[in-house]
Amino acid sequence: MTETQISIRNLKKVYKRDKKETIALEDFSLDIERGELITIVGPSGCGKTTILRLIAGLITPTSGEVLISGRPCSLPGADRGMVFQDFALFPWRSVRKNVEYGLEVAGVPKAERRERAEKYIKLVGLDKFIDSRVYELSGGMKQRVGIARALVNNPDVILMDEPFGALDAQTRNIMQVQLLKILEKTDQTIIFVTHSVDEAIFLSDRIVLLTKRPARIKEIVDIPWPRPRDRADLEFTALRKRILKELEDENVMEG
Ligand SMILES: Nc1ncnc2c1ncn2[C@@H]1O[C@H](COP(=O)(O)OP(=O)(O)OP(=O)(O)O)[C@@H](O)[C@H]1O
Ligand SMILES: [Mg+2]
Repeated sequence: MTETQISIRNLKKVYKRDKKETIALEDFSLDIERGELITIVGPSGCGKTTILRLIAGLITPTSGEVLISGRPCSLPGADRGMVFQDFALFPWRSVRKNVEYGLEVAGVPKAERRERAEKYIKLVGLDKFIDSRVYELSGGMKQRVGIARALVNNPDVILMDEPFGALDAQTRNIMQVQLLKILEKTDQTIIFVTHSVDEAIFLSDRIVLLTKRPARIKEIVDIPWPRPRDRADLEFTALRKRILKELEDENVMEG
């Protein structure tokens, strides 16, 4: 049995700055099932981050709505966690303190905070670095701290905005494999924005391809193949080629 967890209905976002209006998103509707890993791929500046910020409740839609388990989510909540491209960590704090931060703000008692943080730091493989300060870590390790920090609140939904965009190609591939391993142990729903078609095919249950701004859904690509997926596989490369062609038609190259 599948269960619709996130229901996005006719979402539209118009930014108004001074006298200028920018339509970032229009006519955007999508149902997402619990436990799905959805990637959003589309041209630069088309409105991908806007979609995540709307789901996170960080900004309000001009019209339309996002329902999570049937409830409107117009404000940020602990049921949704966000992982940012630029990590958004406290560099001078330890790994432990960074992961504990949200729990601290939520007033979780110290002993429970420690225990929960340790569990997720272990899950992302950073237990040996728990007391290291974040500025001492590599990019891939910092990103794992960001993932642990999102997971520790045990959100139903994790929103990831190009989380591996700042990493070199090799680290990026390792992080993708690690993310899938982490997800095997949780039942979280992931909405993941990426510029990389390769990453999208490697990770997704479904890829949502967007048009250029204002973002609308161009196509939804189902990927039923078992994981781990082989990037050299003929089916993989053929699908990659087809999606890249569609993105090119929207005037972009893979970033
Ligand atoms: N706060 C804002 N005020 C005004 N315009 C904005 C604001 N935030 C985003 N925009 C505009 O809305 C459009 C969509 O922006 P968004 O950041 O959602 O795109 P994106 O697909 O995430 O881009 P990128 O691929 O570069 O990350 C862009 O034209 C952007 O300039
Ligand atoms: Mg963006």
